[in-house]
Amino acid sequence: MATHDIAVIPGDGIGPEVVDAALPLVEDAAAASGVTFETTRFEWGTEYYLDHGEMMPEDALDRLEGFDAIFLGAVGHPEVPDHVTLHGLLLPIRKGFDQYVCKRPNVLFEGIESPLRGYGSGDIDFVVYRENTEGEYADVGGREHRGLAHETAVQSALFTRRGTERIVRAAFEAATEREGHLTSITKSNAQAHSMVFWDDVVADVAREFPSVDVERLLVDAAAMDLIRRPHEFDVVVASNLFGDILTDIGAQITGSMGLAPSGNVHPSDEYPSMFEPVHGSAPDIVGRGVANPLATVLSWSLLFEDLGERRTANALWDAVVDQLAASSAPRTPDLGGSEGTEAVVSDLQSRL
Ligand code: NAI
Ligand code: MG
Repeated sequence: MATHDIAVIPGDGIGPEVVDAALPLVEDAAAASGVTFETTRFEWGTEYYLDHGEMMPEDALDRLEGFDAIFLGAVGHPEVPDHVTLHGLLLPIRKGFDQYVCKRPNVLFEGIESPLRGYGSGDIDFVVYRENTEGEYADVGGREHRGLAHETAVQSALFTRRGTERIVRAAFEAATEREGHLTSITKSNAQAHSMVFWDDVVADVAREFPSVDVERLLVDAAAMDLIRRPHEFDVVVASNLFGDILTDIGAQITGSMGLAPSGNVHPSDEYPSMFEPVHGSAPDIVGRGVANPLATVLSWSLLFEDLGERRTANALWDAVVDQLAASSAPRTPDLGGSEGTEAVVSDLQSRL
């Protein structure tokens, strides 16, 4: 059987804490389902930046390209501006490997209390397909007349037909495998160029998927409805910025940032996809051993699913579901518990 080669970038803050804690569990889950994989660690991130003046070496993408997948912890450091860390590591990998699908499942698991009244196990279960290579995060713009009274900043969003069509099509395909309901989120009333274009593309692609029921929402209404009626969402498709914002709402209404997994997927074999917890480096809890490792474990599950290793993927996902449903199982403080990262992982080990 082929060995999967996985690049691991633990990154900053709690990134290394959750990545290192979860790895032995992931190895056990793979071994138990007959899957072999090897990891290669890359110590890139803010420490590297403070030593070398860049978040990762110039040939980083060349070195990562041959891997079957990439696992990332988190990047971000209180002493370095966030745009430096983001544009120095995360965005170059997402864009350089054309990882155009940012897939973020939002599930309210049994045993987790939603801050929304009246919502219980399984009542919230949707997946966001966020465009991940262009849109509002395109590096197009500039600043002129720095420091003068008439200083000017321009930041343009970039929407291409190819880029929009492929994320919309991926979301429609996901909808056919789920409940057949797709919500497209825009701001077409105010952004009459890019967002009306997005609506046109959705209408075009919808013709290929007659069985999928399409709903359109403006992003402000969507922010409200994800809180008012989250049970009605199935697949959500949105631009880079809107998807980013809405998935933080998704993480909160399903319990915690510490539970939200994600994949940055390039759907063909041409480039590796990258999987990571949605959360950042959490400087407020770093070094205390209390970071929730579950988002990391669930992200590994998405990684194995993407590699076609469904048994390993299910073993990891099910161990998390099982633990959360057990009222006596250890929990980190973000889930109301008082245990640490290691205790949560060793309990998971017993549930594989
Ligand atoms: P954050 O996700 O790091 O933290 C937000 C809140 O959630 C904090 O109170 C934190 O303690 C809590 N939290 C996050 N993950 C947790 C976990 N696994 N267990 C328990 N609690 C958890 O977001 P924040 O504070 O906005 O950003 C901190 C740094 O992370 C910044 O430098 C930011 O740029 C970076 N960041 C990086 C991301 C990435 O690498 N993909 C994503 C988001 C932020
Ligand atoms: Mg975010």
